[in-house]
Amino acid sequence: MDAFRIEGGAKLTGEVRISGSKNAVLPILCATILAPGTYRLENVPVLSDVATLTTLLRTLGVRVVREGSALLVDSRESVPNEAPYELVRTMRASVYVLGPILARFGHARVSLPGGCAWGPRPIDFHLKAMEALGAVIRLDHGVIDAIGAPLRGAEIRFPFSSVGATGNAVMAAVLAEGTTTIFNVAREPEITSLCEFLCAMGARIEGVGTEKLVIEGARELHPADARVIPDRIETGTYLVAGALTGGDLLLRDTEPAHNEAVLAALREAGVEIDVNKTDIRVRSRGPLRPLEVETAPYPGFPTDMQAQLMALLLLAEGTSEIIETIFPDRFKHVPELCRLGGSIRVEGNRAIVRGVGALTGAHVMASDLRASAALILAGLVARGTTEVSRIYHIDRGYERIDEKLSGAGARIWRVRR
Ligand code: EPU
Repeated sequence: MDAFRIEGGAKLTGEVRISGSKNAVLPILCATILAPGTYRLENVPVLSDVATLTTLLRTLGVRVVREGSALLVDSRESVPNEAPYELVRTMRASVYVLGPILARFGHARVSLPGGCAWGPRPIDFHLKAMEALGAVIRLDHGVIDAIGAPLRGAEIRFPFSSVGATGNAVMAAVLAEGTTTIFNVAREPEITSLCEFLCAMGARIEGVGTEKLVIEGARELHPADARVIPDRIETGTYLVAGALTGGDLLLRDTEPAHNEAVLAALREAGVEIDVNKTDIRVRSRGPLRPLEVETAPYPGFPTDMQAQLMALLLLAEGTSEIIETIFPDRFKHVPELCRLGGSIRVEGNRAIVRGVGALTGAHVMASDLRASAALILAGLVARGTTEVSRIYHIDRGYERIDEKLSGAGARIWRVRR
């Protein structure tokens, strides 16, 4: 199993190119099931989550070939095979195939994803949305068995904004008969980009980017090409890397507008940020100020940046507070950050983070994708050597992170254990 060895203390300088967004490309790949044909998707990051979904799509008869940073997808021979447990278990986003398979074939079987490292992560909103569209859902020995031919337009009201349930509901509704109205829609850029892709395929969706979508179902859709949007969480992670190390880093090929909450938090902490179209320059010279931050659905502060921000706030002058409103248990990184010298107390969904002035290197273990990112960030400033094990988590969602960081002057190596 690979680990990262990091010698802390180097200031990050130079440029980092931001890759395409993991959470945007996953639903787009699933949407290719909706219309048989060939697609070209540009700016697709090389990540193990993309590879897992590619394997899942192959079991459904969809061919996926990589050509540089593009993926060529051929869904002409797609079939409604069951999405198996081995794949769905390793990546919860696999549940995104439910809506497209059901809408296209009238019958879908998708294994239940189960819990994840930081809590139960239910999919009841996804299932209720399919039922609202007329599907009959049965749980058959751990497999979701959904039948619904044809699906019919309906009103769907989510009790809480959900990225995945919105994506699944939209992908099902675009081929349903009649009008579907979805309330309390997730407004994350990844959902907007999915809707734009579906519109390029011929779907009729009004209200894209707002809390209410009105979808006129189409009899059929056609293939389209797409360019995957920049990864806003990768962007945020490198912003913290630049800020935390007191560096001067230019992030290229990103979308600053998708990162406003993170940019605002960093500015409030005293980090210098300059934005220019598709670039963000981050500099940090002075002391960092403590913050009070609450995670929230987009455009609020993203839960996927909570762990990384916590690493930064360990070096602020004073005590910060982070409230996690999306996944109340998402604090697996806390004990590991404490092993590096952090002082963090968790009370329910609230973390009180005391600035400690300096961190010290240690062996730590990654428990999920964003927790791993936080440990790497902390390792970049910790005195001495930090070793982060179980880095397969990081390879799920950060393209060549070791190369990108060492290109900016970090001392980080991938080692075999
Ligand atoms: N929820 C339910 N029932 C459902 C669905 C969601 O109760 O059926 C709850 C969740 O438990 C949570 C809230 O609704 O409290 C929001 O969850 P959401 O459905 O939005 O999360 P998701 O779609 O499973 C995506 C991202 C996550 C990101 C969250 C929140 C992808 C593939 N995953 O997950 O990304 O944390 O939205 O923004 O897009 C990551 O990239 O590291 C990651 C975990």
